[in-house]
Parts: sequence; structure tokens; C-alpha cells
Amino acid sequence: MELWQTLSQELGEKVSKSNFRSAIQRLQISLFSQNFAQITQDSVNISNINFCEKARHPPDLPNSNLTNENISNSKSPKISHQDLSEMPDLDLFYNRNNELENLNNLILENKCRLITITGISGIGKTSLAVKLVSEINHHFQSFIWLNLANYQNFTDFKEHLQEFFLESENLNFPNNNQKVLSLTKYLQKYRCLIVLDNVNYLFCKGELAGKYQNHCEEYCSFFQDGAKLVHQSCLILIGGKAPREFTQFKPKNNYICNFPLTGLDIDAIRLIFKDYGIENINNLETLINYYQGNPLYLKSVANLIQELDVNMTDLLTKDVILLPEDLKDNLQQQINRLTAIEKQVLKLLAQENKPVNLLSLSEKSQNSVGDLLNILTSLKRRCLIEQKDNFYDLIPVLREYVKQSNI
Ligand SMILES: Nc1ncnc2c1ncn2[C@@H]1O[C@H](COP(=O)(O)OP(=O)(O)OP(=O)(O)O)[C@@H](O)[C@H]1O
Ligand SMILES: [Mg+2]
Repeated sequence: MELWQTLSQELGEKVSKSNFRSAIQRLQISLFSQNFAQITQDSVNISNINFCEKARHPPDLPNSNLTNENISNSKSPKISHQDLSEMPDLDLFYNRNNELENLNNLILENKCRLITITGISGIGKTSLAVKLVSEINHHFQSFIWLNLANYQNFTDFKEHLQEFFLESENLNFPNNNQKVLSLTKYLQKYRCLIVLDNVNYLFCKGELAGKYQNHCEEYCSFFQDGAKLVHQSCLILIGGKAPREFTQFKPKNNYICNFPLTGLDIDAIRLIFKDYGIENINNLETLINYYQGNPLYLKSVANLIQELDVNMTDLLTKDVILLPEDLKDNLQQQINRLTAIEKQVLKLLAQENKPVNLLSLSEKSQNSVGDLLNILTSLKRRCLIEQKDNFYDLIPVLREYVKQSNI
């Protein structure tokens, strides 16, 4: 009798032998909805905020055939922690379906350990990576996005990441005194996704492409470990160019991959122009070719056209390459990072109105063929020039800028 009274009080309804089962079922449903409401409250919008989020999906642990002893004892503990405080918000995003599919496969199917996404400034590397990680981050136990512009000292970077991993472990095992591990040990122990944007901030100005600044050399060994050691994580490096050391790896190595990003296709560019109220452009291909499908440059051109209210067709038939001020600033910033000899070679290439081969370039340059080759390689790695067979050429918008300005 007392039992029924206590149950009735606790459940807030009269409970007897006849309705006991249904009352307990109602209790279960009510508890579930409370938990669900709590979970929904805990989950947060992915925007520019720092948060720890419980994974909405269980981590998809790799069925890897890992052989390294360091990770053979890892039981892939359940741990779900994210830090997106340095990840930019995604603006309007068109197309890139093929790129997203390829990157998805490289990361989830091929279990690629290190991917570099490279391409000229404004081509859409960061945007693509933001879109990508929003699709795949639930396959990882922990996920962090860092902007390397904020970590031009490896020690700061290392400490920040170690703190993140300790926080992850404390969330899952609050009573254990976790030891700080080396970064690579964390990559081995957990399946982590680490995105490092703006890798170019680690390199020196005024040196050929890819030379590390002081205080940044240790990044080189961290990246090499990330590429060479067996682990279950994925590092995505985003920058104008891949670090120099990656040229040493065989192109067919499945665990390391460079993903050079090219411009957007005509449908995506048409949509961008439509956003600026510009429609029915004839010769859109010509325009895309001038700016190499670069969404940043084309948005800047669309903005200028919208402001000036000029007729696109008139401009295109006159072969005009518009250089809005913000586009010039972007190109000048890239030029400011070059060596004096790289600038000279840009000027030489700009004087030509067609692709030039190495031999005719060496006749006009004061540099030896060997030096010239290094300079051209560096400019190519910065995505400022293109090479087809033995011929080198400037991208059209850069040619126009170099001709007009005193670089
Ligand atoms: N797929 C896309 N659809 C529409 N707009 C895009 C797309 N990708 C990029 N953009 C736009 O292009 C501009 C440049 O993109 P983003 O910042 O991703 O380039 P980036 O390659 O990372 O440049 P940087 O090297 O200077 O960091 C942004 O305004 C972005 O919104
Ligand atoms: Mg970027």
C-alpha cells in the first residue's frame, strides 16, 4: 500500500497495480524528452564561436590496418570535442561538388593522413575547407580549426593543441589525471581532424617560396611526422603553396596528397554575378579566363560593375581587364612577399604577350638557367605563373597589374 502511495507521489499521478506498466512508460517518455531538450540546448550553431559539442553521430572509427606499436594498444576511446573558434563562417557557396567528393574520398575512404589544399589567394581554399569539414567532422573524435596567422611561433601552437587535447580527455575521463603527450601521440591515440589555415604565414617574406621563418622550423618536423608516421588522424593544411618538404614525398603515396584548387566553373560564376544583379553576360568565358575563375577577383569585378553601372559586353569586346582597388591590393600583397629576382622575372614575363620558354627567357634575364629554373618553380608554387610544357606564362590579371604598376 505504502509503495503505491510513494509511486503516486513521485510520478504525479495515481498509480495502482492496473496502470503501473503504462505509468512507467509515460515516465520513460518524459525523461527521454527532457534529455532530448537538454541535448538540443547543448548543441550549438556552427558560427564564429568557441564551443565543445557532443557529437551527434558516433565517431566512425577507422578499420585501419595500423601496425605501429604506439597505437596498437589504443582502444579509440569515445571522445568528441570540437574547437571551431578560429573557423570562419561560410558565405554563399556555389558548386565545388567534384572537389568535395574527391576530398571526402581521400579523407574517409583512403584515410589520407595529410592533405594540402593549395591555390592562389581568393580561389576559395578556406571556403571549400569549411564546407568540407561541416560534412565530415562527425567521423572524427576531435576536431579543431586553427588559423596559423595566430601561431607564428611553434611553441604557442603546440601548447594550444595540447591544451585542446587535454580538455578533450578531461571531458571524457574527468577523474583521471591526464598526462600531456606529444602532438603526434595524440594523432595516434585518437582520430582527430586538424585544419590549419593560412600556412603561408609560417614562411619568410623575400625568400623563394616555402622557407620557414625563425620560430617556425619545428612545424616542418610536425608536418613530416604527420605525413610519415602511422596514425589515425587527418591534417589539412591550407595555403598558397605546400611546404617545401612535401616535394620529397612520392606523388603516389596514398597517405599524403596535394589538392591544388582551380577556379569556379561558369555556372557558379554566373550565380555570383546574379548576386550582384548582373545577368545575361555574353562572353562570360572570356571574363572567367581573365580572372581564372577566382571568386574573390570576380566578386570584386562584379561589385565595381554594379557600382559603375557599365555594360559588360562593351568592356569584354575591348579586351578590358578591370582592376578594382581591392583586387590590386590583394595582388600587391602577394608581390610584396617575393624576392627581388622573382619580381624581375614577373616583369620579363609581363612584357611578353605570349607564353615564353626557358631558353628565350634566359636570353633576356641576367640569371643562369639553373637560377631561373628555381625562380620559375618558386613562382609556380605561389600560383602566380602557369607552365604548359616548356612554356611559362603569367595569369592575365597579374600581367595587367604588373604592366600598370611599378612593382
Ligand atoms: N564556391 C564558392 N561559391 C561562391 N563564392 C565563393 C566560393 N568559394 C569562395 N567564394 C568566395 O570567394 C572569396 C575568397 O574565398 P576564400 O577566402 O575561401 O579564398 P582563399 O583561397 O582561402 O583565399 P586566401 O588564400 O586569400 O585565404 C570569398 O569571398 C568567398 O566567399
Ligand atoms: Mg583562405
